[in-house]
Amino acid sequence: MHKFIAMVGTNSTESTNRKLLQYMQSHFADQAEIELMEIKDLPMFNKPEDRQVPELAQQMADKIDAADGVIISTPEYDHSAPAVLMNALEWLSFHIHPFLDKPVMIIGASYGALGTSRAQEHLRQILDSPELRARIMPSSEFLLGHSLQAFDDEGNLTDEQKVAKLDGLFADFQTFVEITKKLKHANVANYQEVRDLDWDKL
Ligand SMILES: Cc1cc2nc3c(=O)[nH]c(=O)nc-3n(C[C@H](O)[C@H](O)[C@H](O)COP(=O)(O)O)c2cc1C
Repeated sequence: MHKFIAMVGTNSTESTNRKLLQYMQSHFADQAEIELMEIKDLPMFNKPEDRQVPELAQQMADKIDAADGVIISTPEYDHSAPAVLMNALEWLSFHIHPFLDKPVMIIGASYGALGTSRAQEHLRQILDSPELRARIMPSSEFLLGHSLQAFDDEGNLTDEQKVAKLDGLFADFQTFVEITKKLKHANVANYQEVRDLDWDKL
């Protein structure tokens, strides 16, 4: 059974993105082990001179390292991924590289009609940067618009079409994780490149 880390892309205490990940955790419990990961307690990224990341960031990196893949659920603020999510990704690419070649599934929930389509595109671009260089599942979007109305009192998604879409995408992600294991010819070169990349020496 695959083990996934589910990153909650917000520091909001009441979050439909957290609800969506909690729903996936129980809905897919017989198919995968999904552990929620909070980013809300990380300090603001400040590029410390000693190059040490906070202990919490290191613990998060270790969990991502050990997982078969990462699911990130992002809200959308001002047509972008939230600053707090970018902050987490900055720590998680500062002389540590847990996302390198890691399969990632992007999903998102927002109050608007488009359900984070712009934030997801933004996040995709960020995850493709040289220090993160994740393996993002291609041509897939799970957009949960009007997310305040999307769940019942038990935290289940009420729209059957959305459930069917999520079921399909999650099955594809499980396959994508296995396919990604075969895309290993450039792993060593990728790792060397990212290890040798030092912005202070450019
Ligand atoms: C400053 C601000 C900007 C927002 N911009 C967008 C937006 O561009 N698109 C959108 O769909 N929702 C937007 N929203 C609504 C968010 O989707 C909503 O507040 C919420 O954070 C959704 O995620 P959550 O339930 O996980 O907190 C915005 C909200 C705020 C407060």
